[in-house]
Amino acid sequence: MIRKAVIPAAGLGTRFLPATKSMPKEMLPIIDRPIIQFVIEEAIISGIEDIIIITGRGKRAIEDYFDDSPELENHLFQSEKYELLREVKDVSSLVDLHYIRQKEPKGLGDAVLKAEKHVGDEPFAVLLGDDIIKSEVPCIKQLMNLFDKYNKSIIAVEEVAKEKISDYGIIKEKEIEDSIYLIEDIIEKPSLDEAPSNVGTIGRYVLTPEIFDCIKETPQGKGNEIQLTDAIKMLMEKEDIYAYAFKGERYDAGDKFGYVKAIVDFALWRDDLKDDVRRYLEESVSKGQ
Ligand code: G1P
Repeated sequence: MIRKAVIPAAGLGTRFLPATKSMPKEMLPIIDRPIIQFVIEEAIISGIEDIIIITGRGKRAIEDYFDDSPELENHLFQSEKYELLREVKDVSSLVDLHYIRQKEPKGLGDAVLKAEKHVGDEPFAVLLGDDIIKSEVPCIKQLMNLFDKYNKSIIAVEEVAKEKISDYGIIKEKEIEDSIYLIEDIIEKPSLDEAPSNVGTIGRYVLTPEIFDCIKETPQGKGNEIQLTDAIKMLMEKEDIYAYAFKGERYDAGDKFGYVKAIVDFALWRDDLKDDVRRYLEESVSKGQ
C-alpha cells in the first residue's frame, strides 16, 4: 500500500524566467489554480494520505497557498462571496502537507533523498510538478495499482518526439505484458545517438525505499546534479523495475508551449469559459493572428 508521496518543488524554474525570479514555477496558474494544486489533487484522489513537498529558497508562496488565510476568508465572508470562500478553504484543508527544505538545488535525486526520514521504510510515490495529467484514473493511481499487483518499483512512460529525447530520462524496455515493461537500461537526457529508444519517463514514479541508499551512492551526473534516473539505474541492478505506458494525456507545464496548451485545453473543458474561449480562438485563427 502506498500512503506517502514526495513532490519535489525546489527547482529554480529557469525555463520561465523572468516570471519565476520572484515566484515559484509551481505557483504559475492554469487559469485560477496553481500547477502544484493539480499535482496534489492527483495524489489525494489516488488515496495518498501524507504529502511531503521538497521546497527551497524563494518557495514560501507554496506554503502560504496551502495555509489558512484568515484575512482573505473574513473578507470573502463579509462580502458574501460564499462560493469563493468555500474554494479558498478547501485548498487549505486538502491533506496533511509537510515541507522539507533542500538547501541547495543539487538535483532531483538529492531532493527525493531529503524525504527519507519522513518516508521511512515503505514504498512511496513521487510526482513532479511540471507534469499535469488528465486521465480517467489518476496517473499515480495507475502506478499504485500496478505496484500492489507486482510489488516492483514502477515509472510512468510515454513515447517522446525525437527532438525532445534529450529532455527526458529514456529507457530501454522489454514488454512483459500489454503496456508494462521491464526496464533494462535508463539514461538521463541522452543525445539522440546514445538514446536506447524514444520512450521517456515522465514525472510519476512509485519507488521502493531501497532507492534512498542508491541515491546516497549516486555521483553527480547530467548538469552536475544528483539525478534520480542514475539512482534508478543503480536500483535496477538490485531489483526489477517496471515501466508503464500510462493511460491519459500529459501536459508538460514546465515547457512554454506545453503550458499554453494546458491553459487552452483546461479553458475548453470549463463550462464557465469554453464557449467564449472557443469563439475567441476561432476568430483569432481566422484573422491569422
Ligand atoms: C526530470 C527527470 C527526467 C524525467 C523528467 C520528466 O527532468 O530528471 O528523467 O524524464 O523530469 O518530466 P526535468 O524535466 O526536471 O529536467
